[in-house]
Amino acid sequence: MDKLIIKGGGPIKGEIKISGSKNSGLPILAATLLARDPMHICNLPHLNDITTMLALLRCMGVGITIDEKMCVEIDPTLLTECEAPYELVKTMRASILVLGPMLARFGVADVSFPGGCAIGSRPVDIHLKGLEAMGATIEIDGGYIRARAPQGLKGAHFVMEKVTVGGTENLLMAACLAEGTTVLENAAREPEIVDLAECLIAMGAKIKGVGSDRLEIEGVKDLHGCVYSVMPDRIETGTYLVAAAATRGSIKLRRTRADILTSVLKKLEEAGAKITSGDDWIELDMEGRRPRGVNIRTAPYPAFPTDMQSQFTAMNAVAEGASAVTETIFENRLIQIHELNRMGATIGLEGNTALINGVERLKGAPVMASDLRASASLVIAALVADGETIVDRIYHIDRGYECIEEKLQLLGVDIRRVPG
Ligand code: UD1
Repeated sequence: MDKLIIKGGGPIKGEIKISGSKNSGLPILAATLLARDPMHICNLPHLNDITTMLALLRCMGVGITIDEKMCVEIDPTLLTECEAPYELVKTMRASILVLGPMLARFGVADVSFPGGCAIGSRPVDIHLKGLEAMGATIEIDGGYIRARAPQGLKGAHFVMEKVTVGGTENLLMAACLAEGTTVLENAAREPEIVDLAECLIAMGAKIKGVGSDRLEIEGVKDLHGCVYSVMPDRIETGTYLVAAAATRGSIKLRRTRADILTSVLKKLEEAGAKITSGDDWIELDMEGRRPRGVNIRTAPYPAFPTDMQSQFTAMNAVAEGASAVTETIFENRLIQIHELNRMGATIGLEGNTALINGVERLKGAPVMASDLRASASLVIAALVADGETIVDRIYHIDRGYECIEEKLQLLGVDIRRVPG
């Protein structure tokens, strides 16, 4: 398994470009199954999860052509199989996103039931209940979700009992081809859902309430192909901003947006960062100051994102003062604190809250990545540690951060990858 070797030290400084959003690219790729003719999706990040979603579409028979800029032409008319097999679903839970579009378009979908993962149990009951409310019959058989709607799906009024990003995406895509009107209440409002809805609208879907917690979708007979460019990755953006803040550095991020990161930017300002932004860039400058510890509580958008929690925990570990970080979305997502403590952090755990006493510096050590965002926190910790840190199991990082070592090198970091 590959490892990253990072020599911590001074502040990071410089300018990089942010990649397209993984969490927006995945549902948009799944949405191509709804189209009656080829789609062109641009600005996809070069990441393992995106490659897995493309492999999933390809194994269903979908035609895929990729150019050198990661612009992908997808021809769903070639589909021959309505199955998402265990071998691919087990490597990426987001494979469940093909369930709604496949069922809506072809009346049949067999998707391997995704299991739990390192950060929690992660059920998909709301995805299934919503599709049942739209008239599907669903059976669990041999580890597979077998969904059927031979006469097509019907519009329904569905109140989601919990705010779920993937659940909202699956039901939104399915509703576009259902007969009649669907209303989704208590829908997630994440920017990635807005991006998906805008892509669906460009394909001919009729959706009202985009960006709100009540989506109203009037089903149409079919959807056409379109050219769509995926939004910038707000979590990659936030991760580099926190890395700059933790190291008392300065950074300019291009090809990104400040409006999708409001709660994160507010917390960085509270930590002492000077932030300026334009239409497609954000700049952060600590002016050499040590960050102040900030209290965090994760919650659905527009509140503070769970995907940024572990990075702030790492920054708080070297910040001035005490702070508390509470995780409310996933039950096991503070796991990185044990690795941070091995590097000299002083973090205690009380229920779902990490209680942090900032220390001046950390000390390099061999550490192990346990999930995607936890591994980002270990990289940030390595940047503020004296000596060398070896981060093992970085396949987790490669699922979410495009060219992480090249980008950090551009920011002046001494980092290299060694094959394991
Ligand atoms: C998506 C993101 C992930 C992010 C998360 C929360 C993608 C590919 N992944 O994951 O990076 O951390 O949103 O912002 O976009 N739940 C249920 N029943 C369901 C579905 C969800 O109880 O049917 C629960 C989950 O266990 C969790 C909460 O709802 O506690 C939120 O999960 P959800 O928003 O669905 O996360 P994902 O879509 O899996």
